[in-house]
Amino acid sequence: MKLVVALSLVVAICHGSAVRQQRKFPHDFVFGAATSSYQIEGAWNEDGKGENIFDYENHNNPTVIVDQSNGDVAADSYHNYKRDVEMMRELGLDAYRFSISWARILPTGFANEVNPAGIAYYNNLINEMLKYNIAPLVTIYHWDLPKTLYDLGGLLSPEFSDWFEDYARVVFENFGDRVKSFITFNEPREICIVTLMGTGSGAETAILNTTAVTTYTCAKNLVLAHAKAYKLYDQEFREKQGGQCGITISVNWFEAATESPEDKEAAELRRQGEWGLYAHPIFSAEGGFPTEITQKLLEDNAKQSYDRLCLPDFTEEEKVFVRGTADFFGVNHYTAYLVTAAKRVTDSPMPSIMDEFDNVMFPDDSWPAAASPWLTLAPNSIYNALSYLRNLYNDPIFYITENGWSTAKDRDLFDDDRVQYYRASMESLLNCLDDGIRLKGYMAWSLMDNFEWSAGYTQLFGLYHVNFSDPARTRTPKKSAFVYKHIIKNRYVDY
Ligand code: NOJ
Repeated sequence: MKLVVALSLVVAICHGSAVRQQRKFPHDFVFGAATSSYQIEGAWNEDGKGENIFDYENHNNPTVIVDQSNGDVAADSYHNYKRDVEMMRELGLDAYRFSISWARILPTGFANEVNPAGIAYYNNLINEMLKYNIAPLVTIYHWDLPKTLYDLGGLLSPEFSDWFEDYARVVFENFGDRVKSFITFNEPREICIVTLMGTGSGAETAILNTTAVTTYTCAKNLVLAHAKAYKLYDQEFREKQGGQCGITISVNWFEAATESPEDKEAAELRRQGEWGLYAHPIFSAEGGFPTEITQKLLEDNAKQSYDRLCLPDFTEEEKVFVRGTADFFGVNHYTAYLVTAAKRVTDSPMPSIMDEFDNVMFPDDSWPAAASPWLTLAPNSIYNALSYLRNLYNDPIFYITENGWSTAKDRDLFDDDRVQYYRASMESLLNCLDDGIRLKGYMAWSLMDNFEWSAGYTQLFGLYHVNFSDPARTRTPKKSAFVYKHIIKNRYVDY
C-alpha cells in the first residue's frame, strides 16, 4: 500500500512540475507538524504520572466521547517516540511542536514534587529530535490540567497564575537549554471552554454551561498566567538560553455574510469574542479586553443576565503587566465562517461564547467539508486572518502552529481531500509572505492520527495513519505525508 501511494505520487509530481512554475518559500521558513500530550502519549498512569482532567472525565463519564474512547493509550507515543522522530525525519521536518503533560512531570500539579521519569521522557524525545536537527517547539499547556489543580478551582482560582508560573519554571529549567521556542498556552478560548465544564472533552456542551462571569474570569486568569510565565522566561532564562516565548490562539476567519453594516458588526464581534479577548491584552497597544466586547456587554446587560455586570476587566497595572508579553503570535487556523446578524439559530455549527450576541455563522455552500462538522476548506483564509491581525496588532511575528484537515475513521491512505487542503494552505501562506507579513513557520496538524477530544477516534487529522486496533500502534504515511515531504524539500507547491 505504501509503495503504491509513493509511486502514484511520483508520477503526479513529475507531471505537475513539467507544467507549473511556482512561488517558493524562503529556505529558513520553518516547516513542522504538531501534536499534544493527551492526544498521542497514552501511558496515562505509567511511571508516576498524575491524573489530569481528561483521565478523570473520560474514565468516569465516557459517554461524553462519541465512540466512548479515551487517551489511555492513544498513539502510545510514550513508548513510540523513536518512531515518531523517524516519521519527522521521513517528512524532512524542520521542527516538531509537542506539548508537555503537566501531570506527567508534576503529578500533583505543584512544582515541589517533580517526577524524574516524566522529565526523562521529554529529555529523550528532545534529544532524539536534536540528533537530526529537528527543532522542538514546546507547548507548556495544551488543555490537560492536573486533576488536583482542577479540584482547587483550576483556571478560576486566583492562584492559577502562580501554579502555572511554577510549572513553567520547571519546564524552562529542565528543557530550555535545548528548546528555543516555547508556547505558554494552546488556544485560551478552548481551554476556558473545556476547563469550565470541569471535564476534559465535552467542549461542545460545556459552552452551554458557562456564564459570562466564568468565561471572563478564566480569560483573565489565563492571560495573567501567560504574562507571568513570559516575564519569568524573559527575566531569568532568555539571556542564558537564548530562545523565544509566545502564545497560541485559535484564529479562524470570520467574514461578514453581506456588506450590510449589521453583518459587518456581527463579524467583528465574533472576531473580538473569539480571539480578541485573548490577543488584545497581549498584542494591542492599549491592552485589556477589547472595547467591542466590554461595550457590547454593557449594552446587552439589560436583556441578558445580571452576571454581565461582573465582568472582571484588567486594572491599569495589570494591563501594563500583560502588554507586549509575546515574542510571537502562534495562530491555530483551520477554517472560515460567514457571519450574519440575523437571529441565532439553535443548530449553529459551533456554539460559542459569542452566541449570546445573537449572531450566526456558517460556511459557504461551495466550500468542501471535512469529517469534523466545523471544518471546511475556505479560500485564502490564512491570508485573510493574518493580514487582519497584522494591521490590528502592529505587525507581530507569526507562526501557524496548527492547520489541518480531518477524515473519517475508516478512510484509506489516499487522502486527496487533505492534499487539496494543504495545497490551498500553502498558497495562502505564500500570499502572506508576498504581502510582507512576518510569518516564520507552519506546523501541520497533525503528525499522526490521534484522540480528537469529544470526537474520540472518529475524526482523524494525521499525515500518518495510526492503527489503533494494533497494540503496536503502527504508523503508515498517507498520501498527504508524501506531498508535504515534497513541499518541504523543494520549498514550492507543485502538487
Ligand atoms: C486545535 C487543538 O489545539 C487540537 O488539540 C485539536 O485536535 C485540533 N484543533 C483539531 O480539532
